[in-house]
This record gives sequence, structure tokens and C-alpha cells, in this order.
Amino acid sequence: MKILVLNGPNLNMLGVREPALYGNRTYADLVRFIEASARDAGVEVEVFQSNHEGALVDRIQSARGAFDALVVNAAAYTHTSVAILDALKAAGLPAVEVHLTDPGRRERFRHISFVKPAALATFAGMGFGSYSRAIRYLAERFRRG
Ligand code: DQA
Repeated sequence: MKILVLNGPNLNMLGVREPALYGNRTYADLVRFIEASARDAGVEVEVFQSNHEGALVDRIQSARGAFDALVVNAAAYTHTSVAILDALKAAGLPAVEVHLTDPGRRERFRHISFVKPAALATFAGMGFGSYSRAIRYLAERFRRG
């Protein structure tokens, strides 16, 4: 099984951005954590980060046929991007939404998610653990067939 993990804007700033919310670990730490989670779950993983909405849309489109599932942290685009929602629907791959924090417990403008309607599940508020939960969820679903 091959999973593509997509990370949106400002996640490359982990370790620097708002450490009280996002912690002190860096984006490189997150990528290592995702790779270790995939090894534990017995799946292959590729991780892609972009600050650009169109680049994320392009990557989702090209995942069709190349990956079995997506893990998506669209970051701020979660709350704004119909284009990412449409790309996820067009790709037609099983997708899980993840967030480090729980947007539902933050500002009102973070309460809406344009990713959710295209996602099988959402894991949020568990820090890096949101990603390992999502990878395990998709690996188990794939194994069940
Ligand atoms: C985030 C939550 C979003 O509201 C925010 O814009 C982010 C990160 C998270 O992982 O907690 O950039 O997706």
C-alpha cells in the first residue's frame, strides 16, 4: 500500500511557528515521524509539503493511479479551499484529514473544513499522533479490502 501525505502552508515552519500551539519539533522531525509510522504500519509513504494551493491541487491530481490513499493536512487551506476539496473528489482516493491541533477548539474561522466532505475520517488535536492514527486507519482499511 502506498500513502501520500500532503502538508499545506506554514507546516514547514514547525519548530518556529507558535511553539505554544504546535510544539518545538521541526518539520523534518514530523517527516521522520511519518516515515516511522508508515514502517510500523507496513505501508509505503511519500510526504509532500507546499505553501501553494495550486501545487497541492496538482499533487492530489497526480496521486490518482500512483497512490492508494491520502493523508491531508491542508493547514489554513482547510478553511478556505474549494479547489482542494474538488481535487480530492476528482482523485477519488480514500483520504483522511489530519491536524496537529484541534481546529474545532480554536477560532471560529477554523471550525469549517472544506476537506472534511471528501474525507473518510478526521484525526485532530493529537500533535504528530494525528498522522500515525491516520496511517494506521488507512492501513487497516486497506488490509480488510
Ligand atoms: C492546522 C490547523 C489549521 O487551522 C492551521 O491553519 C494550520 C495547522 C493543524 O495542523 O493544526 O496551519 O492544520
